[in-house]
Amino acid sequence: MLWTRKHLLTIEELSAEEITLVLDTAASFKEVSSRTIKKVPALRGKTVASLFLEPSTRTRISFELAAKRLSADTIGITAQASSITKGETLKDTALNLEAMHVDFVILRHSAAGSPRFLADRLNCSILNAGDGAHEHPTQALLDVFTIREKLGRVAGLNVLILGDILFSRVARSNIWALVKLGANVTLCGPSTLVPPIFRELGVKVTTNFDAALREADVINLLRIQHERQRKTLFPSIGEYTRMFGLNQDRFRLTKPGVLIMHPGPINRGVEIASEVADSPRSVILEQVTNGLAVRMAALFLLNGVQSPAASTPAS
Ligand code: CP
Repeated sequence: MLWTRKHLLTIEELSAEEITLVLDTAASFKEVSSRTIKKVPALRGKTVASLFLEPSTRTRISFELAAKRLSADTIGITAQASSITKGETLKDTALNLEAMHVDFVILRHSAAGSPRFLADRLNCSILNAGDGAHEHPTQALLDVFTIREKLGRVAGLNVLILGDILFSRVARSNIWALVKLGANVTLCGPSTLVPPIFRELGVKVTTNFDAALREADVINLLRIQHERQRKTLFPSIGEYTRMFGLNQDRFRLTKPGVLIMHPGPINRGVEIASEVADSPRSVILEQVTNGLAVRMAALFLLNGVQSPAASTPAS
């Protein structure tokens, strides 16, 4: 199929075929990062601005590195180092970037819908790097890429997403991607953080942690999003860890080949024990490696190359 989208705003709006095209393109780009010269000319002459108005380590660095590996010029803007601290609006900041002929704006923002707000007003391509508790499309793409790479498929697998679903953009984007690709998704966590309304997205919701652990082929752990909570939805962090932390005893309940995933940043000793995070079943750092390839693929496709096969990373 041909890629026709100018923006990457949500997984909700992508078809299974579009998701698969990104994964296939990322598989080609993954090899580039193992070369001595880790660069291809696909975005030579283009300018990529990363506008991160919330903290980020993985997403910001891998988007900037992806752009550099595609030979684009890059600029990085954070809230603290921009005129947003002087009261400039998101729209005006973005219009000023466009006035300097930026081709791509990668936006992380606390407001759900802010990437679409920019896409409706600017001519350049907008990539959503996480908007509030709404979506984090490239995280979901790198997660399904990692599952497909490690287990050979996504369809038919039992994927358990555990933790703070209510406030998680990672969970929302993962649910869309996994369901579209045919996985069986189960959500588990404190009932206050995993409301039954999520069943409307085609997933199972349970508080029976041990049963969910035994069935899972993939466990994707989420951290507690302190920064998004307005009130206490569980008694304490210690109580959360006792009830839902993936410790070694619970890890022994899982299938021998289970994949342990986490989008990061991990809170060791809270949602995941160090022994589990560092175990051979953990693919947490491989997710980060794959994030680079997926973000190269996203930029490459949005740049308007209609046929990835006609312009492979080797060209
Ligand atoms: N997974 C993720 O979005 O991490 P960062 O917040 O560090 O970008």
